[in-house]
Amino acid sequence: MKDKLGYGIIGCGVIAPWHARAVKNIPGAELVAVADILPEMAEKIKDEFGAQHAYTDYHELLARDDVDIVSICVPSGLHAAVGIDAARAGKHVLSEKPIDITLENIDNLVAACRENNVKLACIFQRRTSPMWQIVKRTIDEGKLGKMVLASAYLKYFRSQEYYDSAGWRGTWALDGGGALMNRASI
Ligand SMILES: NC(=O)c1ccc[n+]([C@@H]2O[C@H](COP(=O)([O-])OP(=O)(O)OC[C@H]3O[C@@H](n4cnc5c(N)ncnc54)[C@H](O)[C@@H]3O)[C@@H](O)[C@H]2O)c1
Repeated sequence: MKDKLGYGIIGCGVIAPWHARAVKNIPGAELVAVADILPEMAEKIKDEFGAQHAYTDYHELLARDDVDIVSICVPSGLHAAVGIDAARAGKHVLSEKPIDITLENIDNLVAACRENNVKLACIFQRRTSPMWQIVKRTIDEGKLGKMVLASAYLKYFRSQEYYDSAGWRGTWALDGGGALMNRASI
């Protein structure tokens, strides 16, 4: 077992610094490399968080023997494609939410991780909050009886400014929808 697990981040936009910060706070992990098709985005995260390497082609990151785990922080509709490449390169995969935008892509990613004996996890941070854990525990313990119907009402809103902030946001092709797909899955 190595002293430190080598970490890579693919996609260096809005969410990437959260992953880089978390890696920095884990004594047993080290941010080795980052990748983004836009070199300035990759260089920014590299410099801010002291990664050793920045790439514009994530395959170069995946080719490194000292990268053990990757965070997938690219637009949602690319999660499975990038994750499958990572799994085939023998890297454990931590995907941002949603895992992908179609069930077929998600099933393919799950299968690739199984076949290559790597772990797959997804960031669903709200599920760790005490309030939702109480709700889940209450249901699991049968305290509400047999649940046969549930409805959810989510007051999620994002402004046009948010959707304009990156070309993939709100598109069927890469976001898979709007607030329901992008936010309600958390
Ligand atoms: N857990 C949360 O609360 C949370 C919050 C924000 C975003 N997210 C998720 O994180 C993902 C990214 O969202 P964001 O807001 O950071 O988007 P963003 O547009 O700010 O960043 C995405 C980055 O990926 C890069 N990229 C695109 N294609 C690439 C490729 N083929 N190879 C390498 N880099 C590529 C882009 O250049 C961009 O810099 C989305 O799936 C989103 O749902 C999660």
